[in-house]
Amino acid sequence: MLDAELATHAELATRIRPSQPGGANLIFRRCERDTSVKKAGSATDPLWYKDAIIYELHVRAFQDSNGDGIGDFPGLISRLDYLQDLGVTCLWLLPFFPSPLRDDGYDISNYVEVNPCYGTLNDFKLFLDAAHQRGMQVLIELVINHTSDQHPWFQAARLAPPGSPERDFYVWSMDNQRFKEVPIIFKDTEKSNWTWDETAGSYYWHRFFSHQPDLNFDNPAVMEEVLKAMRFWLDMGVDALRMDAIPYLYERDGTRCESLPETHAAIKRIRAAIDEGYSNRIILAEANQWPTDVRPYFGDGDECHMAFHFPLMPRIYMALRQEDRLPITDIMAQTPPIPDNCQWALFLRNHDELTLEMVTDDERDYMYYAYSADPRMRINVGIRRRLAPLVDNNRRRIELLNSMVLSFPGTPIVYYGDEIGMGDNIYLGDRNGVRTPMQWNPDRNAGFSTAVPAKLYFPVIMDPIWGYQAINVEAQLSDQSSLLHWTRNMIALRKLFQVFGRGTLEFLSPANRKVLAYIRSYTSPDGNTETVLCVANLSRFAQAALLDLSDFAGMIPVEMLGYVPFPPITDQPYAITLTPYSFFWLELQTAPEAPRPPAPISEEDAAKAAMGPLDAPAEVPPTVWTPDAPEPRTPIKS
Ligand code: NOJ
Repeated sequence: MLDAELATHAELATRIRPSQPGGANLIFRRCERDTSVKKAGSATDPLWYKDAIIYELHVRAFQDSNGDGIGDFPGLISRLDYLQDLGVTCLWLLPFFPSPLRDDGYDISNYVEVNPCYGTLNDFKLFLDAAHQRGMQVLIELVINHTSDQHPWFQAARLAPPGSPERDFYVWSMDNQRFKEVPIIFKDTEKSNWTWDETAGSYYWHRFFSHQPDLNFDNPAVMEEVLKAMRFWLDMGVDALRMDAIPYLYERDGTRCESLPETHAAIKRIRAAIDEGYSNRIILAEANQWPTDVRPYFGDGDECHMAFHFPLMPRIYMALRQEDRLPITDIMAQTPPIPDNCQWALFLRNHDELTLEMVTDDERDYMYYAYSADPRMRINVGIRRRLAPLVDNNRRRIELLNSMVLSFPGTPIVYYGDEIGMGDNIYLGDRNGVRTPMQWNPDRNAGFSTAVPAKLYFPVIMDPIWGYQAINVEAQLSDQSSLLHWTRNMIALRKLFQVFGRGTLEFLSPANRKVLAYIRSYTSPDGNTETVLCVANLSRFAQAALLDLSDFAGMIPVEMLGYVPFPPITDQPYAITLTPYSFFWLELQTAPEAPRPPAPISEEDAAKAAMGPLDAPAEVPPTVWTPDAPEPRTPIKS
């Protein structure tokens, strides 16, 4: 243990609370195997995704093992120790299937193979086993709205006569006037959702790039093929599937061809096939819509297990820039309850642009103004930048934003490289500026590849601020104050409490709107309650706020990173002060001899308690925290 930060991480890694769900029992639960005919997943808790920490990565960007300049599965396997050490529990792999790579692999030309640049099917299996052995689940892409125009189905379709089964795999029209109401998603590239195919002598329909024809779900054979592909990966042991562009499966005249009843019926069918044949596997919906419109994708708990919360993400950035909590509290108020077995997926950044589709026109103008000074930073309806550059490389802002995503209701997703504050390259085309090679060390090509630099699939970032000499994993591992260490600590802390993934949310309303305060609370089936108060300062200046915590009078807030007790809560407003962009996670603990009258404490004692000891690790009052028999820490998820 070299210094305080590392000690904190190690401390977190061994800390277990006696009442922690999944603690002692987990070992027992792990031994249980599903003995039914269903094929078991690697997780044993059916709700594993609620406690997960997802890490999103592209195989091609992570580690090249054979010096061809492209990341691959053997390379990824060699980096699994790093991911395990980071504490993430589920790996989301961007598409790794055969593809012409004109949409970073979302243009698939074979659903049941691995792109040879990334390795073989066997390499994938080795990766899957290695991830499972480390207790990590694996989430892959199920891109069923469209294929590449190079997919043999499309090649056969354009040659086949109209009305034939082959032609019927896609959506054709003799004119380009149908479905006029449907918006164009890739506005910067496409002028229409129809493209003329000379060979077929017909227009075909596409919601995305013109080289990505939409599959025709009115043809039952299409669904059969989709189910086949899905089972192929689930049989192998894949735990989760991200359903790309899921609202657009069906087209109907006079509609926006989004979220049609037929589409929901198709998702229910897919879900039923999963539930019938497999246990503990899940689907995650990519539906870039308002929360009330996404709600139906959970169905009655019989469609998708998870869905991204798209509108929350830009509002977190807006709240930060405006130093006002309203954008966040407002969108959360518009977020409907979801079935018990469902979960939101939360993120700050991903492989796409920071999408501004789910904001008002004024909000969009504001976001462009605030976060994309250079027009090159914009694409389609969004901003193509990574987390750290978006917040001017300000460490406190990065931590603040992460603290929110880690403590709001849902499952957090970390985009590869953001744990070290990687930069972007706005001079690369499309959204590729946020898809550059992972920066491992200061050696050639950031330790990503031994290829000559010109051979890399994209150049590594090289400028003095964001370049790999300055920002890389190796340097941050040896710097106990690094963002990487901070991220590991926060992930470890979050994993000790199920309340973050499973609990309720209630906002407090302090008069100072620069302060965001909320209560998370969860009572597990065995009756154990976790209550956490989160307080965040959205401002660049220090702030004070008075919180109405009277419902918790008599309880003691304990700062969760250091286990530092704060002054007890009384019926009076609870005063809290925050340095710029700082946040607290405070566990509200029952005072020892309950019911105890809220003891007034002297100002001097309050100050002492708030500061904690200066030169010794914080001591937990035995009455508050009673680890009678210290147990080794066990992660909550199975
Ligand atoms: C959604 C993916 O996130 C994006 O990267 C892709 O371009 C579109 N789907 C189209 O496949």
